[in-house]
Amino acid sequence: MSKTPHHVAVIPGDGIGPEVTAAAAQVLTATGVAFAFRSYEAGDDCLERTGKALPQETLDGALAAKAVLFGAVGKSAAEVILRLRAELGTFANLRPSKAYQGVPCLHPKTDLMIVRENTECLYAGHESRLTPEVVTATRVITRGASERIARFAFDYARAHGRRMVTAVHKSNVLRLSDGLFLECCRKVAADYRDIAYEEALVDSAAMKLVLDPTQYQVMVTTNLFGDILSDLAAGVIGGLGLCPSANLGPEHALFEPVHGSAPDIAGQGKANPSAAILCGAMLLRHLGEEAAALRVEKALEAALAAGEVTGDLGGSLNTTAATGAVIARL
Ligand code: NAI
Ligand code: MG
Repeated sequence: MSKTPHHVAVIPGDGIGPEVTAAAAQVLTATGVAFAFRSYEAGDDCLERTGKALPQETLDGALAAKAVLFGAVGKSAAEVILRLRAELGTFANLRPSKAYQGVPCLHPKTDLMIVRENTECLYAGHESRLTPEVVTATRVITRGASERIARFAFDYARAHGRRMVTAVHKSNVLRLSDGLFLECCRKVAADYRDIAYEEALVDSAAMKLVLDPTQYQVMVTTNLFGDILSDLAAGVIGGLGLCPSANLGPEHALFEPVHGSAPDIAGQGKANPSAAILCGAMLLRHLGEEAAALRVEKALEAALAAGEVTGDLGGSLNTTAATGAVIARL
């Protein structure tokens, strides 16, 4: 008897979002694991057409699915992805940056996991205009969310053979907010004596990431710093086309490339599908399909090593052909 298919909600979004989610769905289907994909709209085009960037039907579809595969949206990112993360309760954003053989990059030994807090910080959405010339944004840091993300990072490190967690902060300036974040990280670190713990100021961590990312294994940080550092880490390994992410919570999971809708290359077949395909591998692993996840990762690694890649990585393939190169190696 065949297994019940995994019900996955796909939200392609804008720009290259539909191109890369289609690639990921093709690879997932090619693994032979049974999926039932259902597509939902969201983003700038959807806003223009329907008056809503995130229709209720999309939200309900995401909530009902076992996992969500998200492409990218454009200007409506805050209304769509921030709201989805909040509604799905996905408090942790896992952002791996791993260098691949055959891909030109700054540091070929990079293998870093950034654990980004996903629910608060400056992205809590508390902006106010005090006068026409003065605007404020409130940075929200809570004990509950900070301890929760720190514990998540240490659990991740322990489960994946990582020996060290680095808390990234700016507590020399943001004394109260990052002071609380660090207090929580230290408290949690004391429960994980088998994992080394260190702290790094975000500015100096950014510099060190460029010089030698191998000195970090797992970084845990607040929302804004995690957003910026994960793009930086993507640059270190060869670009945004290679970096997936997983938004995880107690009940829901949403997988999305780190990149945005890339309007400069949308509709031209230039989008690198690797980040979205790696999202597919993370999704498989989340659903307990470890063997299929490994097959996807190995197939992608082999295609990258063979130079069967898109232009951003120096190759000559379009999105469809680069996806085919992965499927051929599954
Ligand atoms: P971006 O990540 O879309 O693009 C930055 C640069 O990387 C561009 O030159 C783009 O062509 C390139 N790039 C990105 N992904 C690529 C891929 N898969 N293959 C090859 N090249 C790739 O960031 P940008 O340009 O700052 O933002 C564009 C739009 O995306 C904005 O409207 C922004 O709000 C939105 N955005 C949405 C996100 C989301 O939906 N989660 C996340 C980040 C940005
Ligand atoms: Mg970002």
